[in-house]
Amino acid sequence: MTTKQALNIVKMKKMKEEAVPLTMITAYDYPTGLLADEAGVDMILVGDSLGNVVLGYESTIPVTIDDMVYHTRATARGARHTFIVADMPFMTYHGSIDETLRNVRRLMQEGHAHAVKMEGGLEVCPAVEAIVKSGVPVLGHIGLTPQSVNQIGGYRIQGKDAADAQRLMNEAKALEAAGAFGIVLELVTEQVADAISKALTIPTIGIGAGRYCDGQVLVFHDVFQYASPYRPKRFVKTYGDVGAMIREGIGNYVKDVKERAFPAESHVFLADDDVLDNLYGDTKSERVERS
Ligand code: KIV
Repeated sequence: MTTKQALNIVKMKKMKEEAVPLTMITAYDYPTGLLADEAGVDMILVGDSLGNVVLGYESTIPVTIDDMVYHTRATARGARHTFIVADMPFMTYHGSIDETLRNVRRLMQEGHAHAVKMEGGLEVCPAVEAIVKSGVPVLGHIGLTPQSVNQIGGYRIQGKDAADAQRLMNEAKALEAAGAFGIVLELVTEQVADAISKALTIPTIGIGAGRYCDGQVLVFHDVFQYASPYRPKRFVKTYGDVGAMIREGIGNYVKDVKERAFPAESHVFLADDDVLDNLYGDTKSERVERS
């Protein structure tokens, strides 16, 4: 039996040259990591979207490095043959380079990630350079960067005017020069994402950034409507309604227990009659006679 080998950043660049699209999905725990691994996705992102879709926060800002290490490690236990990228959470790469590298070390050594992802443009390039120099691959992330949502003023489409398009292009080129192995483009107009993808030698991975990126990433909970209630998003294609399935399943379980339809005879374990004779102090035939 051949074991699937995790992809690496050299092969990813080659895939871009050969116009083979890269696939990425988020995962945050062992079962999802295992399923994504079995399904053959190229990369798993343990995103800080964890904050929204798993931990129930309003934004990604409260997510800590401890949260990311814990969930990356759980995911890695399941996804043994897939390249795993872990998000650097809010403010864990804006202090000193020493502090940044300490956080990267935790995601790699304790979380077992293969690479880290960081949001931001020119301002994060020195950190990207330092991390890459230490031997860790970095995935950039520009466009809508949820950790800066309070500064951006909401979840808006990026690259709608000429100045913004140029800013995104400059950021992408600077991240490539700093050593990033790829860049996530989130909520970017299709034409601008296309121009950036053509201008770079490293792959772009789009989410809400149109058809011409070198790869695509989606959030697992969006793809499978794994939330209650699920909010449809224009840029997401769904491949199942796990939320409805689980809600209905739990409802049926509750009903069965209330109506004593579960457990049924097929679910129980029976002891031998002599065990009961001992417990009740009489025999089965005496008990039947009395009843
Ligand atoms: O945290 C995340 O899931 C992400 C994706 C939206 C790219 O950063």
